[in-house]
Amino acid sequence: MIAVLDFGGQYAHLIANRIRRLGVYAEILPSDTHPRKLRDVEGVVLSGGPASVYDPDVPPFHEEVLELGVPVLGICYGHQLMAHMLGGEVRPGGTREYGMARLEVIEEDEVLKGLGLTETVWMSHGDQVVRPPEGFRVLARTPDCPIAAMGDPRRHLYGLQFHPEVTHTPKGMEVLDNFLEVCGAARTWDMDRFLSRIEEEIKAVVGSRKVFLLVSGGVDSTVAFVLLTKVLGGERVYGLHVDNAFLRKGEQEAVERSLKAFGRVQVVDASKEFLRAVEGVVDPEEKRRRIGDAFVRVMRREVEALDLEEWVLGQGTIYPDTIESGSTPNSAVIKTHHNRVEAIRRLMEEGRVVEPLAQLYKDEVRKVGQRLGLPEELIWRHPFPGPGLAVRALCSDGRSFPVPEGLSEEVKGIARRFGLEADVLPIRSVGVQGDFRTYAHPAVLRGEADWDLLERISTAITNALRGINRVVWALTPWRARKVRRATLTKERLDLLREADFRAHEVLRRRGLLREVWQMPVVLVPLGEEGETVVLRPVCSQEAMTAQFAKLPPEAVREMAQAVFSLPGVDEVLYDVTHKPPGTIEWE
Ligand code: XMP
Repeated sequence: MIAVLDFGGQYAHLIANRIRRLGVYAEILPSDTHPRKLRDVEGVVLSGGPASVYDPDVPPFHEEVLELGVPVLGICYGHQLMAHMLGGEVRPGGTREYGMARLEVIEEDEVLKGLGLTETVWMSHGDQVVRPPEGFRVLARTPDCPIAAMGDPRRHLYGLQFHPEVTHTPKGMEVLDNFLEVCGAARTWDMDRFLSRIEEEIKAVVGSRKVFLLVSGGVDSTVAFVLLTKVLGGERVYGLHVDNAFLRKGEQEAVERSLKAFGRVQVVDASKEFLRAVEGVVDPEEKRRRIGDAFVRVMRREVEALDLEEWVLGQGTIYPDTIESGSTPNSAVIKTHHNRVEAIRRLMEEGRVVEPLAQLYKDEVRKVGQRLGLPEELIWRHPFPGPGLAVRALCSDGRSFPVPEGLSEEVKGIARRFGLEADVLPIRSVGVQGDFRTYAHPAVLRGEADWDLLERISTAITNALRGINRVVWALTPWRARKVRRATLTKERLDLLREADFRAHEVLRRRGLLREVWQMPVVLVPLGEEGETVVLRPVCSQEAMTAQFAKLPPEAVREMAQAVFSLPGVDEVLYDVTHKPPGTIEWE
C-alpha cells in the first residue's frame, strides 16, 4: 500500500486515484499520521498544499516519516517540506508560477525514467526549493524554477515541484509509475476487490437498519442506490426522488422511468417548499445551506410517513465532494457541498449516514455502474449538482461589484494585443487559483476568434491579472449590461430550464454529449430588459481540473441561436476558462 499524506492541496486526492489506476492500493491519511502506523506501507507520498514551510501554523508532520526506510515522494509543498526538513533551502514567495511550464530533464534517475529532454508539466506554487539537501541531486528544472525535481537515490527520497497527478502533465502517470517501481509496490488493486470491500463496509455500517436515500437521477446517487439495493435487498432500501424546483426539464419522468427497474423509488413534489426556503436569498452559500436543510426536512417527513423504525441516510457522495468542502483537515474552502451541510454532519456524527462511494472518483463510479449492469445512458449522464439549477441561476441584490480601478483598462489592453474588444463584468463568480478558491470578476471578449486564440487570450488575462478568474466570449451582439435584482423565482428557473434544454438538445442531436464532461448553462442577472445566459461546456476526467470544450463552431452557433431566441435572454456568452483558474460551476 502507498500512503498519501494529505497537506490539503487541491490535487492531494488525485494522487491516490492515479496510483490506484496504476494497480496499487493507495490511501489518503492525515499529514500527521504517526510513523508507527506507516511501518507496513510500500511507499509514502507527501501531497501539495496551500501552506508555506515558513508559516507559523504549518500542517503537522512527523519528520521520522523520512527515516522509515521506504521511498518517499514529495509533491509541490511535499517537495519543499522535504527540502526544508533535510537541510536544503526553500525561498518564500518570489515568482508565482501557475499553469503549464517546460521541464528540462537534467538527469533521468529512477523517477524521471523514460521522459524526453523536455516535457510539459503543470506548476502551481509560490515558494520554491533553491538548494537541495545533502545527498540530493537536481534532476530537472523549468525556466522559473531551478530545482523542479530532486532525488536522493541512496535513500529513495524524491521531490517534484510540478504535479504529476494532473492530466495537464502529460507524462505524469509515467513519473508516478516509476515511483511505484522504486517502491516495489504490489500491483494487486482492482475494482472487484474494492467492490467487495465496499460491500462489507455497507453491511457493517447499516447493520440491521434500513436505508433511506435521495436519488437525483445523477450517476452517483443512482449507482449508490443500486449498489445498496444489491447488498441489502429491495425491502431495506428506499429511494426518494424529490422535485425540488431545481431539476432540469423532463428530469423527473426520466428518473422514475429508469430507476423503478432497479429498486423501490418514490417521487414527491416539494418544489413549493424549496422555493419558499430560498425566497429572497442571494448568497450562494446561503442558498446551498437552505436547500440542504430543506432536503433534510423533506426526508425526515417522508421517513416518518414510511414508518421505518430505525433508519440510516444513504448518500451518493464521491471523493471530490468531500475534499472540495474542506472536510479533509488541511484544505482551503469557499463553498460547501450540500452533502456536508450542518444537519447532515450531525447525522454523520450519530453514525446514521452510509456513503458507499465516498472513496471513489467519477470514473470509478462509472465502472461500478457498469459492473452493476446499469444502462449506458445512465452511466454516461453528465454530472449535475445536487442543488441543481439553484446554483446555476446567479442571484443579486441589484448592486454591482465595483471593478477595481484600472482593471478594465488592463483587460482591454491585453485583449487588444490579440485584436479583440474586452470588458469586465460587474459581477463575480467562483474560481480556484493555487490551492485557494476565489470570488472574482469575469472578463468578456468580443470579436471574431478561433478557440486557440481565445485560449491564449484567456490564459494571458487570468495569468496577468489576479482580479480576473474567468473569461467568457460573447456569442451574440453587445448589450448594455446592468446588474439586475434577481432571486430564485419559478419564472427565472423556467427560463433557465428552457435555455438548458435547448442547448443540450443541440449537443444531443449532433452526437456531442459524450464529447463533453458536462455543460452547465448559467443564468446571470445582467442585461437590459432580460438576462444573460452562459454556456460552460468542459472536458474533464474527474472535475478537479478541466478544459473549456472547443465545440464545433456550427454547434456553438446553433446553441447560441436556440438560446438567444428565448424571450428574456439578452445575451449569450461562452466560457473559455480552464479549471484552474475558473471552477466548472459559476457559484
Ligand atoms: P466546480 O464548480 O467546483 O465543480 O469546479 C466540480 C464538480 O462538482 C459539481 N458541483 C456540485 N455538485 N453540489 C453538487 O452536488 C454542489 O453544490 C456542487 N457544486 C459543484 C460540478 O457540477 C462539477 O461536476
